[in-house]
Amino acid sequence: MEMTTVYFHMTLANCFLLCLSCSDFSRKHEWQLYSHNASSSSCSAKRDIIPTLSCKKLIDAFPLDEIDGNYVHTVKRCVFSESPPTPLKGPLKLAAVSEEVLESILDLDVSASLYEDFVLYLSGSKLFPGSVPLAHRYGGHQFGYWAGQLGDGRAHLLGEYTSRKGETWELQLKGSGKTPYSRSGDGRAVVRSSVREFLCSEAMHHLGVPTSRAASLVLSEEPVLRDQFYNGSIKKERGAVVLRLAKSWFRIGSLEILTKSGELDLLRKILDFVIEEHFTSITKNDPDKYVAFFSTVLNETAHMIAQWMSVGFAHGVGNTDNFSLLSITIDYGPFGFMEAYNPNFVPNSSDDEERYSIGAQANVGLFNLEKLLEALYPVLNPSQQSWAKHVLKGYPQIYQKRFQELFIAKLGLEEQDESDDGYLIAFLLKMMEDTRADFTMTFRQLSEVSALQLQSGSIPKEMWALQDLSMHEFFSEWVNMYLPRLQRAYQSDEARQHRMKGINPRYVLRNWMAESAIRKAENDDFSEVRLLQEVLARPYTEQARAEERHYASRPPRWAQGLRVSCSS
Ligand SMILES: *[C@@H]1O[C@H](CO)[C@@H](O)[C@H](O)[C@H]1NC(C)=O
Ligand SMILES: *[C@@H]1O[C@H](CO)[C@@H](O)[C@H](O)[C@H]1NC(C)=O
Ligand SMILES: *[C@@H]1O[C@H](CO)[C@@H](O)[C@H](O)[C@H]1NC(C)=O
Ligand SMILES: *[C@@H]1O[C@H](CO)[C@@H](O)[C@H](O)[C@H]1NC(C)=O
Ligand SMILES: *[C@@H]1O[C@H](CO)[C@@H](O)[C@H](O)[C@H]1NC(C)=O
Repeated sequence: MEMTTVYFHMTLANCFLLCLSCSDFSRKHEWQLYSHNASSSSCSAKRDIIPTLSCKKLIDAFPLDEIDGNYVHTVKRCVFSESPPTPLKGPLKLAAVSEEVLESILDLDVSASLYEDFVLYLSGSKLFPGSVPLAHRYGGHQFGYWAGQLGDGRAHLLGEYTSRKGETWELQLKGSGKTPYSRSGDGRAVVRSSVREFLCSEAMHHLGVPTSRAASLVLSEEPVLRDQFYNGSIKKERGAVVLRLAKSWFRIGSLEILTKSGELDLLRKILDFVIEEHFTSITKNDPDKYVAFFSTVLNETAHMIAQWMSVGFAHGVGNTDNFSLLSITIDYGPFGFMEAYNPNFVPNSSDDEERYSIGAQANVGLFNLEKLLEALYPVLNPSQQSWAKHVLKGYPQIYQKRFQELFIAKLGLEEQDESDDGYLIAFLLKMMEDTRADFTMTFRQLSEVSALQLQSGSIPKEMWALQDLSMHEFFSEWVNMYLPRLQRAYQSDEARQHRMKGINPRYVLRNWMAESAIRKAENDDFSEVRLLQEVLARPYTEQARAEERHYASRPPRWAQGLRVSCSS
């Protein structure tokens, strides 16, 4: 028991670190690949299957860049610049589509993707009817410092689509060419980063984490030069485009740039627009609406980051330009899912400072919210300013509460009805850290193991993560605390297992899985991209094809030295 007391302090420290610094696209459509020359103008797609977009709302609300011309320049007094996508050099290949996005958001039958011309719309070679392509002006704090004008350097907002359900979504292409914000970039995205964004944004959605969505992935033959590891070896890669969707693409940096350049009328305009369109609980005439807005963004950002932690997701580059005002996960770059549990896990292999380690994400969120508050400062009166500062102070509690709720649920427990729940979680995480047990599979196998097996310490061999964990000298002590809690909460062990399996995924997009799919996709074999799509759409359900591919097994040896490709 003496040892347990020691643990109490150690684990609390650990928890503090974490908390504070913390389609079924099934074979039912045997679909083919459509290669197409972008230059070809043959139009075989029926017009009525192509969604009609509108840019009216945005263009009516905000002034456009006065400087006409799609070249890099400093942009003032506007929120968007008109900028046409630059078609990728053909032939184009439709590598994958998200059936759910096409059908339930864009109201398309998935067979629409079989029209030869559809790939031209999905890649920016043709514009959807009604589209006025725009590049968004924003700034941001990158790696802790103000970086000035950034903006959509390789993305084009095509317009809004209002679905039959009455939802409005903004469609954006990524990798579609240069804009006034391209700085020294070429406006392109390569296959590996596009495959990762396409797969991960959909996977996060199916894990229940707020995120942008991805409709399609198109590959081209256009050569794109990248220094993948920033070490001077430049490689020729292929350009690709993802069509992605969000209710809004505005970021913290969208507001920051206006404050920094003293464009306060425009700042109010964008705030009023976002509040009216997306924060329906805030009334237009509320004199304190900007504080209410801040408070909502703060709450939801804390919730989002707690959810990242609950699935072991590290975003990798949490700059203010990558943080959405709607608190959804956006801009999938050098992200990663943590394997061996480690609060210092850093997905970006070049991030030596570990600024964006998984355990630091809650703090990064806090930093970004401070920057949001700074951006709002000029439109708040003194009493609202101190009110908002007070709201900011509440962030750690909101985050910690949500973090604890999520982990209590991962352990299969109901409401926080016991004062030692935090201890139970922290004790487990500390054992995981000591034994380097796999994060995802430890929780999954706790859901699959029987109480009897846990009690007797006879963990089946195939439960590899739990076996690793059980090597810990205090494992049985922890089990002796945990089991009585479970037994009080459930009628039967089956009921407990069933519930826990619905919370703890068996499959997440591990780096090696993405890498394997990318290597094939580079050679126009999209089978594994599609398999992963299918598997990750049902992450809680054991699937034969996933098991054959060892997606829930110990990561293969070749994956150990894998580095996340950073330049994207
Ligand atoms: C695409 O264009 C290239 C060059 O213009 C041509 O050689 C090729 O045959 C075309 N491919 C198809 C599928 O039409
Ligand atoms: C750059 O890094 C990659 C991956 O570590 C390596 O394969 C390559 O040889 C390196 N190139 C140079 C010039 O050091
Ligand atoms: C905070 O955000 C969560 C997640 O969106 C929501 O369920 C909750 O109601 C919010 N709380 C407040 C006080 O706004
Ligand atoms: C996120 O931020 C980085 C650095 O601030 C920026 O270069 C990049 O465009 C953004 N990431 C993505 C994936 O868009
Ligand atoms: C990874 O981290 C390094 C070092 O901080 C940074 O320069 C680089 O931009 C990061 N990569 C991405 C894609 O954000």
